[in-house]
Amino acid sequence: MGPNALEQHIVLVGFMGAGKTTVGREVARRLDRTFFDLDEVIEQQLGSSIPELFAEYGEDGFRALETQILMEELLLRNRYWSVIAAGGGIVETSFARKALADLAFNVLLEVDVDTAWERAHDSDRPLARDETEFRRRYERRVPLYDEVADARARDAGDVALAAAGVHVETGVLERLGELVPGGPVALVSEPVVAGIYGADAQLALGDRLAEVHELPTGERAKSVQEVERLWRSLRIQRSDVLLALGGGSLTDAAGFAAATFGRGCPWVPVPTSLVGQVDAAIGGKTAIYIPEGKNLVGAFHWPARTVIDPALIETLPAHERLNGMSEVVKTGLLMGEPVWTLPDPELVRRCAAFKSAVCLRDPHDEGPRRVLNLGHTFAHALEAAAGYDLSHGHAVALGLLAALRLSGRDTDPVDELLHPKPVAVDRERAWQALQRDKKGRMRIVLLGDDGGRVTELPEADVRAALDSLIAR
Ligand SMILES: NC(=O)c1ccc[n+]([C@@H]2O[C@H](COP(=O)([O-])OP(=O)(O)OC[C@H]3O[C@@H](n4cnc5c(N)ncnc54)[C@H](O)[C@@H]3O)[C@@H](O)[C@H]2O)c1
Repeated sequence: MGPNALEQHIVLVGFMGAGKTTVGREVARRLDRTFFDLDEVIEQQLGSSIPELFAEYGEDGFRALETQILMEELLLRNRYWSVIAAGGGIVETSFARKALADLAFNVLLEVDVDTAWERAHDSDRPLARDETEFRRRYERRVPLYDEVADARARDAGDVALAAAGVHVETGVLERLGELVPGGPVALVSEPVVAGIYGADAQLALGDRLAEVHELPTGERAKSVQEVERLWRSLRIQRSDVLLALGGGSLTDAAGFAAATFGRGCPWVPVPTSLVGQVDAAIGGKTAIYIPEGKNLVGAFHWPARTVIDPALIETLPAHERLNGMSEVVKTGLLMGEPVWTLPDPELVRRCAAFKSAVCLRDPHDEGPRRVLNLGHTFAHALEAAAGYDLSHGHAVALGLLAALRLSGRDTDPVDELLHPKPVAVDRERAWQALQRDKKGRMRIVLLGDDGGRVTELPEADVRAALDSLIAR
C-alpha cells in the first residue's frame, strides 16, 4: 500500500517457519500496537484447529475462510492499527492478495527454504509433511509474496524500519533513483557533502534529477534567510520530491523547506552524518533557528522515504563522529543493548530501528517520544550557558552522565566511550536555562530497567546533578 505504516495495519507475510508470530509480537511491543496471529483468530472463531479445518474444508475451502476472516479483522480494526501475522498461504488467492494490497502495509519476513523446512517439518502443520512438496510450494509462492510485499525484513528491527519508510543498506547511494518515490527530484545539499557525494547522488538520480540547490554547511543552514532563499529558487511542483543530502543541519532545514513549500511537498532525507543516520533524519521533525531559540520554528513532516547508506559516514571527521556517538550511546542505554560495540552498518541499523519504532508510536511528540531526551535537558542548559560554543555531542555526553547518576546507574559506557570533561560555564546561567526549558517542573528522563521514563524530581537533586557537570 503506502510508503509507510504510520496509519495502516502491518501484516507480516512469509513462508511457514519464517517466524512471523515471534517477530510480530516483538514488533507490536516496540510499536505499542495490538498483535494478533490470524491462525489463532481463525481457531477461536471456528472452534477447531487449523489441521482439523484443513481436513474438513480442503485447502481451497480453508483459504476462503482465512481470507474472509482476515478482511473482517482489517476492516473492523480500522484505525486501531495492529500488527498481524498472516498464515503462510494467505497469498495463494488473488482475492486475498488484493485485500492485503488495499488494506495493509505488508512486510515479507524472509526465510530460506532449508531453514523453513528445518523449523516446520516436525510441527503439526498439514503442509510440512512431504519435503519435496514443501520445496515446490516454497518456489511457487516466491512471486506471490513479491506481489504483495511493500518491504522485506529479517527481524523486528527491519520491520520497524520498513514501517517508518526507512531503508538502510550499505552502498545504496548508487540506487537512489530506484528508492526515491515519485517523479522529478530537487536535490538539496551543502558544499562539503556535495563535494564528496553530490556527483554520485546526481548520477544515481539520472533523468529524475530536475534541480540542484545548496544551503550553507553546518548550523548556518537552519536560518529563515537561507530557507527563504531555497523556497525562492525551487521550481518543482508540490507533488515532486525534495531530496536532502547532508548531516542533521541540512536535513532539518531542507525538511522544513519541504514541509512549507507548496504547503508541503514529499521529501527524502539521505543523511550523511552519524547524528543524521541514527537520529535527525528519522521521525519527521524538521526545524530552523530564530534568535529566540534553537529549533523554535519547525514542522512535523514525515519523509516519503529515508534512505540511509552507512558507508557515507566513513568520510566523517573524527569530532563529528564523536558527536554522533553520544546519540548512539543514548540509544544503546535506552535499548539496554551495547550497540556501540557493533560495526557501523549494524550499529546504524539498530539505532535507526529503535528511533523509528519510538517515533511511530508517537509521531507528534506527545508522550512516548520524550524518552529520546535522555540527557538532553542538561545538554541544552549547558549549551545555552556556553552561548552555543560547545559541541552538541559533548553537551549530550555530559547530560547522559547526569541522567545516569540521577537514575542510580553505572556511568561507565559514557566515561569510556565519550570521555566528557566538565565544562567551564556560568552555573547560574546554566540553571536558569534549565528552569526555562522545564518551565518550573523538574520532569527529567531517567533510565529504568525497561528503558527511559519521565520522572518528576526535587529541584535540589537536579541542580546538584547539573552542578557536577560544570568545571570548578
Ligand atoms: N530533527 C531531529 O529529530 C534532530 C535530531 C537530532 C539532531 N538534529 C539536528 O541535527 C543537527 C546536527 O546534525 P549533524 O551533527 O549531522 O550536523 P551537521 O549537519 O551540521 O554536520 C556536521 C558537519 O559534518 C559534515 N559532514 C556531514 N556528513 C559528512 C560526511 N559524510 N563526510 C564528511 N563530512 C560530513 C558537514 O559538512 C558539517 O560540517 C542539529 O542542528 C540538531 O538540531 C535534529
